[in-house]
Amino acid sequence: MTDALTKSLIERALSVRQSAYAPYSRFPVGAVLLTKNGKQFTGCNVENASYGLSICAERAAICSAIAAGEREFRTILIAASPGASPCGACRQFLVEFGTDINVISIDANDPTETKTWTSGELLPESFQL
Ligand code: THU
Repeated sequence: MTDALTKSLIERALSVRQSAYAPYSRFPVGAVLLTKNGKQFTGCNVENASYGLSICAERAAICSAIAAGEREFRTILIAASPGASPCGACRQFLVEFGTDINVISIDANDPTETKTWTSGELLPESFQL
């Protein structure tokens, strides 16, 4: 991935993080999903008074891409402070679309602080039908 592309993913994740609806946890998260054909889809966490209904930024981004007809994903970049590693539900959601998706987590307050995995590394031996 070029530096310019990485920079653009970081900017989009930080920007969508500002739209997060997280009044309960006060932990806003932004995610940007890059498709294999170069499109970008964003998502943020949306919480609910009935806590279990909350959706994470990663799943919101994936739903947005799927609704647009995209199913082939290269990278998902997540911005939170401090940096977050995807929850179990989001890991399962990601591996539905491949075990080779690059997952990059950045600290929103220090975007040089990054961690990288593949979706398969985050959920080994995952359930498949
Ligand atoms: N959250 C995400 O959106 N993505 C993650 O990777 C970790 C957790 C959200 C869920 C909830 O709205 C808040 O962060 C605190 O758990």
